[in-house]
Amino acid sequence: MLTASADVLRGAAWPDVLTQARALVHGEPDPVANAANLSALLALCLPDINWVGFYFLGAGELVVGPFQGKPACVRIALGQGVCGTAAVRRATVVVPDVHAFPGHIACDAASNAEIVVPLVRGDRVFGVLDVDSPRFDRFDAADQAGLEAIAALYVDTLVS
Ligand code: SME
Repeated sequence: MLTASADVLRGAAWPDVLTQARALVHGEPDPVANAANLSALLALCLPDINWVGFYFLGAGELVVGPFQGKPACVRIALGQGVCGTAAVRRATVVVPDVHAFPGHIACDAASNAEIVVPLVRGDRVFGVLDVDSPRFDRFDAADQAGLEAIAALYVDTLVS
């Protein structure tokens, strides 16, 4: 459960977002429930974003999971787009200008910047956490660290 009201959380600093994220997933192993609540939390807290959500790796491709934003492309091949690139690299990809990223997949024409954090444990990739913004150069080092902490928290909830 959230321990602060939604009004307080709008534009909250990363330490507060992470406190709320830990409270949301505490004791809950269901992967869809946790992805849904973490997406909703991030949509509430992060200013200037138009899409935030999860893609899960299954049968060699990424498939869209819980998210907040406009309907998105369902399947992304590994190595394709920002999401597929982050999954293959097993490293966060920060894109200040999506129009300059070769192979970027435009799900929402409003998106101008993007950050994709892989969901990894050891060598295993479970999927990615993707955030889009209409503001160029929207994501800084603090956002990357915060989203990587959210991704690590999520992976820790996965049983297998
Ligand atoms: N832009 C992503 C596709 C997913 S949407 O942004 C929700 C990409 O290039 O992989």
